[in-house]
Order: sequence, then structure tokens, then C-alpha cells
Amino acid sequence: MAAIGATGRGGVNRQALSPEDGAARARLMGWAKARGFALFLDPIGNMFIRRHGRDKDALPVVAGSHLDSQPTGGNYDGVYGVLAAFEVLESLEDQVIATRRPIEVVVWTNEEGSRFSPTTMGSAVYAGAIPLADALASRDRDGVTAGEALKSMLAQLPKTESRPLGSSAHAYVEAHIEQGPVLEGAGKRIGIVSGIQGLRQFTVTVTGEEAHAGTTPRARRRDAFVTAHAIVGALARLTADRADTVRFTVGRFEVYPGSPNTVPGRVQFMIDLRHPDAGTLARLGDRVFATCRRHAAPCAVEVREMLHSKPVSFDPRMVARVRDAAHRLGLTSLDMVSGATHDAKYMAGLCPTGMVFVPCRGGISHNESEWAAPEDLAAGADVLSEVVADLAAE
Ligand code: GLV
Ligand code: MN
Ligand code: MN
Repeated sequence: MAAIGATGRGGVNRQALSPEDGAARARLMGWAKARGFALFLDPIGNMFIRRHGRDKDALPVVAGSHLDSQPTGGNYDGVYGVLAAFEVLESLEDQVIATRRPIEVVVWTNEEGSRFSPTTMGSAVYAGAIPLADALASRDRDGVTAGEALKSMLAQLPKTESRPLGSSAHAYVEAHIEQGPVLEGAGKRIGIVSGIQGLRQFTVTVTGEEAHAGTTPRARRRDAFVTAHAIVGALARLTADRADTVRFTVGRFEVYPGSPNTVPGRVQFMIDLRHPDAGTLARLGDRVFATCRRHAAPCAVEVREMLHSKPVSFDPRMVARVRDAAHRLGLTSLDMVSGATHDAKYMAGLCPTGMVFVPCRGGISHNESEWAAPEDLAAGADVLSEVVADLAAE
């Protein structure tokens, strides 16, 4: 999979609904077909690989993650959870173990949200948190809609049976690299994930006036960059908590028209704000609007909230299952809240949901040098396998 969209610097650029995303899905579909598993796609392009159970009417146990990546993504974020889940299916097949319930591997569409906003789009649409039409209308920087990109990507794939959004599941389990430094720092192998911190994303547009860089006195300028810079500084101060729990990022900042000798007339930037406590996230996020307005002069500012996903706590019985499985396998573990966001947060509203984390080197992720040790990845897949097989036997 790491060969698909390989950047030549150790990572991948396999952004959502791109030809590379399509190629990764096609490869996985080929593996699934070779094993005789059934395949389905829903209207937002979430893909399901089903190994039948003995009981045709039983709700499936679902496990998976995503194959799309950041523009300079690593080889593990998302892919690991998909391949670990696929390995569970293959392993059951190899050992000729029949389960009562069907087991499905899911590949969520556009988890990363770097090309099309918002993040975790596929699962949000699946769970009814955002309307399908809104998601399909989302545009990338070239003006291509997610709907158009999905259509092109589907044309790359073999014809596949459709299924509606939001089909029920008995339970959902997702394996993922931690993407942070906690497990490595504690010297533990398995993260028992109790929940996911909340996330709000905003798009801020600052509008000033284009002018000649050589002739326009400061007093006459409405420089959108200078204003946007002041706003970002104020937001950074607002969110610089003593405990270092708030996560504040401006990862996209675009200056128009982007000419060195024209005073910028417009800036658009995106804010990613996270906190594990719902009240703190609500309070801080609400202050984003006023902070932007307070520093807007002499420009105009518009703030649009793209996503407000509240902190999620997983069903304690699922958390206990993951903990028990790690314990049975003799693996060291640590309970933790996920700093990164995941499709599991939407599944948690639909069925009992859990996650299994494994360490990654230096806690580094969303980076081409992302790396995880094969033994840790195998340990996480073993835990996933135990939990999924137990649930599928119910
Ligand atoms: C997922 O990629 C996230 O932004 O946490
Ligand atoms: Mn991920
Ligand atoms: Mn990611």
C-alpha cells in the first residue's frame, strides 16, 4: 500500500478520492475478491468487505479505518487499521474458523479532511451527522467537488454492489497508531482508548484591499495578511493554556493574490482546535468568533465553523474488552484518550465502539517519517483479532 502514492521521501500522498486513493482501494478489493469476500460501497464511497457469518441475519462486527492520507502522510495512519482488520478476516479464513456474525472491514472515505473538508467525512455522513449533499458539495483547492472526485474514483473501481448509508452494526473496533508520544514514553505496547477529544474546525476569511506595495502608505493600507497575522497571534495567546492541554493549529494559510509586490487583499486560513473537555472546547471555540472580530480592523473578517465534534467516551464494556484482550495476550497497556480524531467517534453514536492503539516512533505522525515497529503492529492486530472474534461469536 505504501507504494501507492509514494512520495519518494518515505511517505505517501494519497489524498481522499484521488486516483491514488482509488488505486489503494482497487488493490484491497483485489485481495478481498481473491478470498471470496463480498464487497459493498455506500453513497459517500465508504467501502465494506464482508466475510459471511453462520447467521445471515445477525448484525456484523465492523473493524477498519481509512486509506486516504495527508499530503505528506506516513505509511501507517489509517492504512494500519484497514490492513489489521483485513488480516483478521484472512486469518479466520486460513484457520477455517466460522463465526456466528458476519465480520466487515470498512474503509472510510476522506478521514483526513486535507483535500475536502471536513475531516472524518465518510463516517459523519454514514452516521447522519452531516448531510450527504453537503459533503458531496465540498470543494478542493482546484474547485473540484467531492461528488465529482468520488465519481471519477468509482470509475477506476470494479463494479460493486451498493448499500445504503448507516447500516447497523453489532459493534465497531478500530486499530490505529497512537500518533502521539504517550505509549512510547510509558514503554507500553497497547493503548486502551477510552475516548476521543473534541475538535472544532473553522475557516476564517480576512478581506482587505489590494494595493501597490511600493506606493501605498501604511495609513491607507488594508493589508489582509497583517490583519490575519494579528488574529492568529491573538488566537495563539487565547489558547496557550498553562497545562498544555488545548491543541490549536493553523495548518492552512493562503494569501491572495500571492504576488510579492501587491498588498494582499484577502487571506483565508483554517483553525483546528481540540480539547478533551466539552465545556472548555465550547467556551474557547465560541471565543474564536469574537477574537477574530476584535482584531479585524481595518479589514473585514468572516468566520465559518466547518466542524464541531464533541469529545466522545467509548462504551466502557468495549474499553474493558480491549483491556482484557491485551491482558490475555500478555501485552503491557495503558488507558488513554485519543488526541487524534477518528471515524470511531461517529460509530460510537451508533453501536458499542472501541479502539486499539500501538506506539509510533517519536510520537510522529502526519509526517512522511511516521514509523511503527512490526512487533507492535502485530501485537495491536492480535488484540483487534481477539476482540473482533469474541464479538463475532456472540
Ligand atoms: C486525523 O487525521 C486528525 O486530524 O486527527
Ligand atoms: Mn487516521
Ligand atoms: Mn490522519
